[in-house]
Amino acid sequence: MMRSTIASMASVLTALLLGCGGAPSYKEPEGTIPFEPTRPELGSPGAVTPYTGADPIVLEAQMKLPTGVDLQRKVILRTCGPTNGVCHNQKEYPDLHTTGTFAAAINAPCNLQPGSFASVYDRCERVGDSFNFGEKSFPAIELGWYEVIVGAFVEYEDDEVPPSDAPGLHLHMREPVPLAQGRAHWGTGTFLRNFGTGEKLSFANYNTRWWVLDDGRHLYGEVHDYQAEDVEELQAVGIIQGDWNRNDLFGARENQGVPLLNPGKPEESYLVGRLRGHMQGEPVPGTRMPLANQPPSVTDMLALMCWLEGLDPNAASWNLSSPINYAGCSYIANPQALSLVGAGVTWRERVWPILKSSCGGCHGGASPQAGLDLLSEGAWGRLRGLSTQNSTLKFIDAGRPEKSYLWLKLAGDGSISGRRMPVDPLNSGSRALPADQLDSIQTWILAGALEDG
Ligand code: HEC
Repeated sequence: MMRSTIASMASVLTALLLGCGGAPSYKEPEGTIPFEPTRPELGSPGAVTPYTGADPIVLEAQMKLPTGVDLQRKVILRTCGPTNGVCHNQKEYPDLHTTGTFAAAINAPCNLQPGSFASVYDRCERVGDSFNFGEKSFPAIELGWYEVIVGAFVEYEDDEVPPSDAPGLHLHMREPVPLAQGRAHWGTGTFLRNFGTGEKLSFANYNTRWWVLDDGRHLYGEVHDYQAEDVEELQAVGIIQGDWNRNDLFGARENQGVPLLNPGKPEESYLVGRLRGHMQGEPVPGTRMPLANQPPSVTDMLALMCWLEGLDPNAASWNLSSPINYAGCSYIANPQALSLVGAGVTWRERVWPILKSSCGGCHGGASPQAGLDLLSEGAWGRLRGLSTQNSTLKFIDAGRPEKSYLWLKLAGDGSISGRRMPVDPLNSGSRALPADQLDSIQTWILAGALEDG
């Protein structure tokens, strides 16, 4: 009974799916689908000479992290927690959470989801798209950045000059646009992409009235209501901006561009720069180290640097399961120098200036709040003492942020009395120090909270 109902329902459905009458009946294809598995080649262990020296760090790295796969599984995955900005989970870019995506990060552009202009690292900028007129009244010029200013449409006369912030499309170019200022130009704005071969191909157009504004590098394109969709489409194609962070430095120029992971060049890999907070002496914007997780150890860093150094820059693909060449790695000469903990963070240059500027207003002078003077000379010594709010803890317990009451107050730990520091003098509520400052203070404590060095 039951069965026959289902069977008849099924035949009705089949009839519906196949279409009633008329439609040609489906013919099953014949033959088989060939299957030739192309599996990645597994690394041939022994292709590199193992390290046989006596440095315990190198020996440990070689034992625990023999290949790129181990590096990704044991170091990268742990370092890249979802709560920090160094590398991300699968929802964000870069995604380093599988060995496959980690391998794909080699030579991949960095900093694609910066969140704010200030966190774009110049050397992650790419060569911008170029712009000219389809009518070719001037040679293509690289685009620095663009902006669509939203607002009610205002129609300007041909000989009027719209203000710099007129609603519409604003292009900020690398060089002045060689067109007369002070009057409108009709033209088909053409966006061209450089495909590395020197050849530029046009990929988007926008036809409107244009004006050259300000210093000549600012092009303004009018956007009528009926053109709004065209401008949306333009934005949707993903125009590459050569000066994405709008600081007038075109980072991809003069071979200054860096990828996420740079084969053969660990010192110029964005991931390493982010972990260290600097690259070749220049600061790299963004949170320096994963706050939520343990920072990579010297052993971890050695594996990362030796792995990157050993990658052939001319290869087309890389095999993560090949052994890391520790014996031939330049970093084994001084692995300690790779320590992230404490690197570049000193009391006098970094920690005290933060405390003086963010805390000194209340914790200084004749009667400092809570009796804690962070402003005057001798602050470092005073922080060795016990807190009044929790007399079982010192303000700073070298090497142990979790036992340092000053750190717990800054982190807003659940165990503290009173408010998270610093107090916002405007409303007496709490605010948090910026992540990079918290990061520095935590790093300094972990590294032994030294007064000098
Ligand atoms: C606007 C004033 C104000 C600012 C700014 C401020 N504090 Fe405080 N701080 C207080 C007050 C008031 C207390 C006591 C009440 C409380 O803890 O909420 C306090 C208490 C503390 C305590 C506990 C003292 C003890 O003996 O246990 C620490 C540690 C501390 N602050 C550190 C800081 C640090 C570090 C900063 C800067 C990052 C800072 N505070 C900025 C007002 C301020």
